[in-house]
Amino acid sequence: MEKLDLNQSDKKRLIKFEHQRQTNRRLWNIDKETAHLLYFWVKSYKPKHILEIGTSNGYSTFWLAKAASYHDGIVETIEVDKNRYKMAQENLQGMVNIKMHFGLAEKIIPSLPNLYNFVFIDAGKIGYVDYLKLMLDKLDKDAVIIADNVISHSHSIQDYLQLIRKSDLFETMTLSIGAGLEISIKK
Ligand SMILES: C[S@@+](CC[C@H](N)C(=O)[O-])C[C@H]1O[C@@H](n2cnc3c(N)ncnc32)[C@H](O)[C@@H]1O
Repeated sequence: MEKLDLNQSDKKRLIKFEHQRQTNRRLWNIDKETAHLLYFWVKSYKPKHILEIGTSNGYSTFWLAKAASYHDGIVETIEVDKNRYKMAQENLQGMVNIKMHFGLAEKIIPSLPNLYNFVFIDAGKIGYVDYLKLMLDKLDKDAVIIADNVISHSHSIQDYLQLIRKSDLFETMTLSIGAGLEISIKK
């Protein structure tokens, strides 16, 4: 059970997302519980600069941006697939605190000008470790990284998990919500 501060336009978007989730099997959206956790996290801790790696059709982006809109936070999100990128552009139309990047995260991350307070990783699983390495000098001092699928795809993500768990830079823990989240806080 949840009670969320959603307006008519949010509800319309969510109906559309639900329809797309049910009719398109190649969107791989996070589940509702994970979406709400991201929403509550961002709404509580108010990270100003948020980066998402793996937009798909924009479902998780919607929740991050909705939460960030209460404190003028900005969400940047990266997607490499043209069709899903276009769907996200349509689905997120009118949400002014979102900046979308089209292309490979590995190419885009080095060119990003900001330092980020919150990063959500949900793209190609084998790529997680590379995204992390590229992100290291893009993290603000209080940064939090949440990585999805660390239980469902633990094998593909093992390099990422090994690196972040061994690193002196982070405190980290696994949360068995949805597909499994690794929550890592920069020390
Ligand atoms: C699991 S889906 C993202 C789901 C989305 N976060 C949501 O919950 O609505 C992963 C997305 O990452 C994209 N992707 C995979 N590898 C990528 C890469 N190297 N750079 C950018 N996007 C990538 C895929 O095209 C796919 O749309």
